[in-house]
Amino acid sequence: MDSIRYGILTVSDSCFYNKSEDRSGVELEQCINDEQSDIGKVLKGRVCIKLIVPDEEKYIKKTLKHWVHEEVDVILTVGGTGFSKRDVTPEATRHVIQKECPGMVIAMQMSSLKITPMAMLSRAVCGIRGSTLIINLPGSPKAAKECLSAIACAIPHAVNLIK
Ligand code: MTE
Repeated sequence: MDSIRYGILTVSDSCFYNKSEDRSGVELEQCINDEQSDIGKVLKGRVCIKLIVPDEEKYIKKTLKHWVHEEVDVILTVGGTGFSKRDVTPEATRHVIQKECPGMVIAMQMSSLKITPMAMLSRAVCGIRGSTLIINLPGSPKAAKECLSAIACAIPHAVNLIK
């Protein structure tokens, strides 16, 4: 099987306007690219594209569609899944996907709720557009890694099935 191509789309006003660092995006990239890490061992691929956009539906949609066109296998969005007025990542994702993958959302929630009840405040969506799997992760580095760990074991098989 070819190496899986991952994209990391950080959705954050503060990172986009340089008011904070994109720690989640950086840490996720390191985990995925490190074949010795718990997540990297399982994900079998590399981050080939990364971007930070503000919490605006139009930029999220545009980037997701562009990366699908660029044949990114798995897009991980990071942030903007919560209850704040500016959190619109799930709405943008739902607009772009052609099929929903509710099982992946359930797996992230079940695993996360064992760690913190605050997990119920993520409205993350997962789905497929074309041959690309799109996964919403919550924004903090800890939350993003916990959620990705919960579903990582199924991602390579999912990518095989989608292609
Ligand atoms: N999921 C896990 N596994 N661990 C966490 O610490 N934090 C929650 C939730 N999901 C959390 C989690 C919190 S506090 C929020 S507000 C929501 O994710 C939404 O985060 P976001 O708006 O940064 O996407």
